Amino acid sequence: MEVVLRIANIDDAAAVNETYGYYIEHSLANFGEQNKTVEERAQEIGELLKIYPFLIAEDKNGRFLGFACAEPYRPKSGYRYTAELTIYLHPDTPKGRGVGTALYEKLLDCLTAQGFRIALGVIHDQNQGSLALHKHFGFEQVGVLRNCCYKHGQWVSAVILEKVLNSFDEEPDEMIPFAEYRHTWEAEKC
Ligand SMILES: CC(C)(COP(=O)(O)OP(=O)(O)OC[C@H]1O[C@@H](n2cnc3c(N)ncnc32)[C@H](O)[C@@H]1OP(=O)(O)O)[C@@H](O)C(=O)NCCC(=O)NCCS
Repeated sequence: MEVVLRIANIDDAAAVNETYGYYIEHSLANFGEQNKTVEERAQEIGELLKIYPFLIAEDKNGRFLGFACAEPYRPKSGYRYTAELTIYLHPDTPKGRGVGTALYEKLLDCLTAQGFRIALGVIHDQNQGSLALHKHFGFEQVGVLRNCCYKHGQWVSAVILEKVLNSFDEEPDEMIPFAEYRHTWEAEKC
């Protein structure tokens, strides 16, 4: 399947929010129970893009296929070299056709070049598609959060998957914020 990748902007908020909303309502892929408003989602995209990559996949006609982004794992500043990843394809996008792989390849390239050390996935332990995607990229299971979520009338466990992106220097440089790093990508496209 032909996939075109680009950097998200706040005009993507409606499609991103619709995608989140589907998985919040119909699945255990997302542990949320209440979706954001489109305005809240636009604000979130704008905030994340200051530091983290937020990527959109489209087909060759510009139709939204899905998104992938990185977020802080935890707010305390010592965690800043660690990024937690998120990926969702629109419910109408065919799964298992390489869209997720295309998004993750670029997302991980960006995070590595920016200087992040660890990428984390926190995934429902029965989510075979997401587990397979992470395995494809060499993520390793480092933990299990047993019954950490109650949703749709059941207790659900999550696995924590980790991928090391860069070496652990004694005095690491600060990461390049995505707001700065994105110019490298934009320049490559010229
Ligand atoms: C998870 C998701 C992003 C994966 O994207 P995708 O485009 O379907 O995945 P790809 O086609 O790139 O496949 C990547 C690998 O996973 C495998 N895979 C994909 N779906 C699978 C499934 N349901 N069961 C088993 N393996 C699967 C593919 O065969 C491929 O393996 P390979 O590299 O060994 O060939 C996508 O299926 C999705 O959006 N799912 C619903 C939302 C979700 O679960 N998001 C993640 C929340 S943690």
